[in-house]
Amino acid sequence: MTEFGKFKKRLIISGGAGFIGSNLLHLMVPKYQDYLFVNVDILTYAGNLANLTQLEKSENYKFEKIDICDYESLERCFDKYDINGIIHLAAESHVDRSITGPADFIKTNIIGTFNLLELARKRKQAGKKLRFHHVSTDEVFGSLGETGYFTESTAYKPNSPYSASKASSDFLVRAYFKTYELEVVTTNCSNNYGPYQFPEKLIPLMIRNARAGLKLPVYGDGRNIRDWLYVEDHCRALDLVFHEGRTGKTYNIGGFNEIENIDLVRQICRIIDELDGKSDGTTEKQIEFVKDRPGHDRRYAIDASFIEKELGWRPKYKFEEGIKKTVLWYNENENWLENCVSGRYLKYYEENYNNR
Ligand code: NAD
Ligand code: TYD
Repeated sequence: MTEFGKFKKRLIISGGAGFIGSNLLHLMVPKYQDYLFVNVDILTYAGNLANLTQLEKSENYKFEKIDICDYESLERCFDKYDINGIIHLAAESHVDRSITGPADFIKTNIIGTFNLLELARKRKQAGKKLRFHHVSTDEVFGSLGETGYFTESTAYKPNSPYSASKASSDFLVRAYFKTYELEVVTTNCSNNYGPYQFPEKLIPLMIRNARAGLKLPVYGDGRNIRDWLYVEDHCRALDLVFHEGRTGKTYNIGGFNEIENIDLVRQICRIIDELDGKSDGTTEKQIEFVKDRPGHDRRYAIDASFIEKELGWRPKYKFEEGIKKTVLWYNENENWLENCVSGRYLKYYEENYNNR
């Protein structure tokens, strides 16, 4: 038994310094004082320890700067903490970056997941218990037409290097369940929004650019649809599925919240006009339609009835409430936002985001 044996569960949260990972740690660390949470994160541009300052002094929280592609370091971490559970979020997560540079997506999302699965398998072989929760996306299902929803039995048809790499990792997880009877569960979630999201994704990018007087680049005709979910609702679902999900199952998580991009951007503009005391329609003038993303999926929409029926989960936040909360959060955390796009991030950001 290691010194950490006093903790009932000893969990790796991979990618804990990212957007969803840090929100999940904020939810789970105070809630489960008898669990140890080991945040395994290499701190790419998207990983930010400033997201977790409130947790630094918690006795049941540790940070390990490890690349999930580095098998030996990961193995030392598993042994040090006698890990018996994983919630795996670490990934390269931005579709646009996967189009300009897919290699890191293949490495982290596929090889990194494979390493974690291998170490889980090794522990099982040694007679130890370990539960593996793989956090994935609805983008693995490809694009919907005007009607229909993604269910757990929808065929995989990924269209971007990002979604293809996530689909590959989902298949590996499935194979480790079927072949090695590893205790796995997978969740496929729709687009998240909320605090701590790196400002390259649609919502924080629009909020920042709107406030900074920059243009608001809407891809194509702006009529693409995403099913938006407030991150706290996603984290509650992850907590529930990790604890109560049926082994070997996949659960779709969605917001019941389909919105066209252009409507969403206009909604953000209206909130900002109101906040800044500008007349209605002022911020909207910054909107600019730009060249479409190659292979741009038209519509995502989740049928989340299975998780509701099995585990009683439903989102709590209505979009109008969640988006207001989000704009206010970025407003109150301007330093956080600017730190994200300064220093080593700035060059990439300027080249890719400010001049479109
Ligand atoms: P994010 O980009 O904000 O965070 C990813 C984290 O992983 C960062 O902290 C980064 O430093 C870390 N990381 C990247 N490569 C790593 C490596 N090789 N080793 C260790 N750590 C590494 O992503 P997010 O939005 O928080 O997404 C988390 C997970 O949820 C991802 O697996 C993503 O595919 C999935 N997901 C995201 C959304 C969404 O809307 N954001 C929706 C559904 C599913
Ligand atoms: P994004 O936040 O990148 O998430 P995903 O591609 O994983 O769904 O984009 C959400 C939607 O917003 C998507 O249809 C692309 C669009 N979009 C823009 O129109 N402009 C932008 O600057 C960005 C980043 C995205």
